[in-house]
Formats: sequence, C-alpha cells, structure tokens
Amino acid sequence: MSIAFLNGEFLPLEDARVPVMDRGFLFGDGVYEVIPVYAGKLFRLDHHLKRLRNSLDAIRIEKPLSNEDWKSMLNELVNRNEGADQAVYLQVTRGVAAKRDHAFPPDCKPTVFAMSSSMPPSVDIDKISGVTAVTFPDNRWKLCNIKAITLLPNVLLRQQAIDAGAAEAILIRDGYAVEGAASNLFIVKDGMLITPPNGPTLLPGVTRDLLVELAANHAIPFREADISEAELFNADEIWLTSSTREISPVTLLDETVISDGKPGPVWKHMISLYQDCKSAIRRGEAG
Ligand code: PDD
Repeated sequence: MSIAFLNGEFLPLEDARVPVMDRGFLFGDGVYEVIPVYAGKLFRLDHHLKRLRNSLDAIRIEKPLSNEDWKSMLNELVNRNEGADQAVYLQVTRGVAAKRDHAFPPDCKPTVFAMSSSMPPSVDIDKISGVTAVTFPDNRWKLCNIKAITLLPNVLLRQQAIDAGAAEAILIRDGYAVEGAASNLFIVKDGMLITPPNGPTLLPGVTRDLLVELAANHAIPFREADISEAELFNADEIWLTSSTREISPVTLLDETVISDGKPGPVWKHMISLYQDCKSAIRRGEAG
C-alpha cells in the first residue's frame, strides 16, 4: 500500500482527498518537485528544496514548511513506503479558496501533498541503446524556470512524441533547442559538452546541474551555450537528463541518425560518473 502525505498527515494514497475548490485543481496554481531515492536516501535533496523555494517565491506562495520540516517529512514518507529505490513527488498549491477568482484569495493556506512510487531497478549501462526524440516548436510560456504544475503544453508535446514513436520531444524556440518536454538537453560536438544556459526558457534541472559539476570536477571540456537547431542535428552526441531518466542518449532525432546510432563515448564516461554518485549515496556518503 502506498502512503502519501497531505497537509500534515500520513495516509494511504487512495484515501488522500483535496477539495475541488483547491487552486491547484481549478487553475493549476502550484509548483512541484520529483526527487529520486536510492537505497532509501533522497538524492540531491538540498538542490531540490532550493529549487522548490525558488518556485514558491516566483509564484508568491509563503514557504509552508521549513527546510528541516521538509527533510523530516520526506524521509518519513520514504521510510513508510516500500522499496529501496523510489521517486518522491511533492506538490504545493496556493490552497482552497471560497470562490473561483483568478486573483489570489485572502487567507489561503497552501495545500502540501507528497507521494512516492517505486523506481524500476537501474538498467545495466551496457544494455542502454539510446532513444528516439522528435523536435517540435516550443509553445510553452516564458517562465519555464518555474517548476509549475501547469503542464498542459508539456503533456501535449510528450504525447505528440509518443504518437510519433519517440521517447521525448526536444523543444525549439526561436531557432534554438532549449530542453525536452520533461528533461534537459546536452550535446557533444568535437569532444565539447554543451548545454543551454539556465534562464526563463528552461527548467534548471537538478540532474543538469550535477552533470555541470561532474564535467568541471573531471576535466570534461564543457561550456554553456545556446544550441541552434542546425547544431543539434549535427551533434556527435545528444543526451536528455532528468531525475527519473538520469542521462538518456538520443540516437535518432526525427529522421537523423545521431553519430553512428549508438550511445557515444562522452555519454559512457558521464554515466559512469553519475553511477558513482548513486553508489556513494547508496553507501550513505553524499547527498
Ligand atoms: N521533470 N525540464 C523539464 C521541463 C522537466 O519537467 C524536468 C523534470 C527537467 C529535468 O529536471 P530534473 O533533472 O531536476 O529532474 C527539465 C520531472 C522529472 C517530471 O516532471 O516528472
């Protein structure tokens, strides 16, 4: 049985109820995080909590819990759920209002919800063969750095990708590739690892930022730069990153085979560094 947290209480997920006047339900007025858990330990928790604070500030919701309270609640949630490897989802909405009005209601108390699902066991790196991605125009809003629950464009774009037989949509804005529908984007060209700089056109991914750190610490040539559509198609390697997909190599983009259609050498190096980080947290060494 899956256990959830709702407004101060742990309860079976199927019993968790939110009133229909919740602004998350009516307006998508809220923010969220997805945090991977390895061997019962929340991976990069401080980074997720920092981004949550930024998202809450950006949509002007008062912090409902202190950092310490988030940590103890999330750890308890993980302990109450089965499985060493989990994906924790947490969401904060502006809360329940007396009437439907776009403007913030007075005296609204945020709704805090969290749940956890089990993560499939990690795949052997040698068995990863790469995924297909398709490009689509980015029709999202201009504040993509906020991790808002209002995800209709992302939902439609991901479904368009699935309908095209692909795993993910890579989004093109003003001639530049910014990120995936639910992932960040990296390319490798002539040994140089490149990702677009953080800003309002993309989510500052926790996985992305870890890869930036790993590149710096392991002398992998790296730069933050805009990636034109032509550069994307001419890349030697393309990767998509997220907390749940980790580092996914793209081997087919629209009709174009990337490199020789196999995950590239820089990906192999980076995924082994990423696995080292996961092993370290499993041993309780790092967060
Ligand atoms: N999504 N960009 C977008 C638009 C995303 O939705 C996500 C993650 C990322 C990667 O961020 P991170 O590395 O912090 O997971 C980038 C989550 C996993 C989701 O919506 O389920």
